[in-house]
Parts: sequence; structure tokens; C-alpha cells
Amino acid sequence: METLAATLRAAKVIPVLTINDASHAVPLARALVAGGLTALEITLRTPAAAAAVAAIRREVPEAQAGLGTVTGVEDLALAADLDLPFAFSPGGTGLLLAEAVRRGVRFIPGVATASELMTALAHGFSLVKFFPAVQAGGIPMLRALAGPFPSVRFCPTGGITPDNAGTFLGEPNVVAVGGSWLAPPADQEAGAWAAITGRALQIKANLG
Ligand code: 3PG
Repeated sequence: METLAATLRAAKVIPVLTINDASHAVPLARALVAGGLTALEITLRTPAAAAAVAAIRREVPEAQAGLGTVTGVEDLALAADLDLPFAFSPGGTGLLLAEAVRRGVRFIPGVATASELMTALAHGFSLVKFFPAVQAGGIPMLRALAGPFPSVRFCPTGGITPDNAGTFLGEPNVVAVGGSWLAPPADQEAGAWAAITGRALQIKANLG
């Protein structure tokens, strides 16, 4: 957990990537790395996702490519087989949590309530994704959860923007934030890599 938390803390901002065409994966990863963002969440929302992760790992060694939208045990198998640095889920069923432990996956389950957090903790996960962060209560919710769960660390995603990222990162129980705004699919399709690098540089500069 400590190593994983340190990885995310160092990253601060994690682009949440939906890649429709695996041939975009490498230029996309290079564009983000050029902007200073190296921890990349490739969501399992498209058929190209697995090939995209593999291509980035092969060709962009400066990037730390992990998975997002892990919802089934087969997704955990992929994370384990590739020995990925992290695997995010929007939630955390008992089956998924137990399988992540069994396979030793660096898993970050999603929670939006105290009970979901308690289920994650019962399986040994004290580093969680707070999803969907803004819609599920934002900063006031994170502060409320800090009382009963002081040792839990969160990675909020869902509704994070360049304007609110710094405020979330200012919370003591937040290690990193994730967001899709950095590299929307339209920019990938247009090959607008410089625009993606520009957004990465901008958020890095804003956060200092
Ligand atoms: C996620 O999967 O983490 C979210 O879809 C990212 O949310 P956003 O699109 O609001 O950044």
C-alpha cells in the first residue's frame, strides 16, 4: 500500500484515458509524459484498451501505465499478468476485492459511501478511489469520512477539473486526483498531441 500511495502521491494528477484506437496509445502517452504526467490510467471501456496498455509499456518506458474501469475478475487477471503498477475500479464487489488480494494486484477500489469504504477496509484496502468524487459529495464528503476513517487515503475522480484539482489535492487524505479532461477522445482522433501536452503542462504549472 505504501509504495502504491507513494506512486500516486508523486503523480498528483492521473489522466483517465479512453483509447478507441490502439495506434493512438503511444503518441498519447508520449504527449502526456512530455507534459510531465507519467502515471496513466487506461480505462477498460474500449476493445483497444488491453493492446493500448501493452504498447505503452513496451514503447514508453517513462510512463507508468495502469488500468481503470476494472469491473470483472478477468480485468484483474490482465493487471496481474502484465504486473501493472495500479488498477482502478469505480467500485468494489466482494468478489473483486477478494480476487485482487488473491492475485496480489495493486488494486484501488472505488467507494462513494462509508459502507463501501468499510467493505474495502475489511479486505485490506485503505487506499481507495473516491468515485464519482464531485457527484458523491466532493470535499465535504472527504472531510466527513476523515473523522471515522483517519488512515484512509483517497484518489478522487469524477468531475475533477483544472479549476478544482488543487482544492482536492489540498485535503490531507487525498494522494492524487484523476480526470479525463486532459486527453479527450476527440483530441486523440484529431492527433492533437500538442494540445494534450499543453493541458498537462498547464495543470502541472497550476499545482506547482
Ligand atoms: C473515471 O472513470 O475516473 C471518470 O470517468 C473520470 O471522470 P471525469 O470524466 O469526470 O474526469
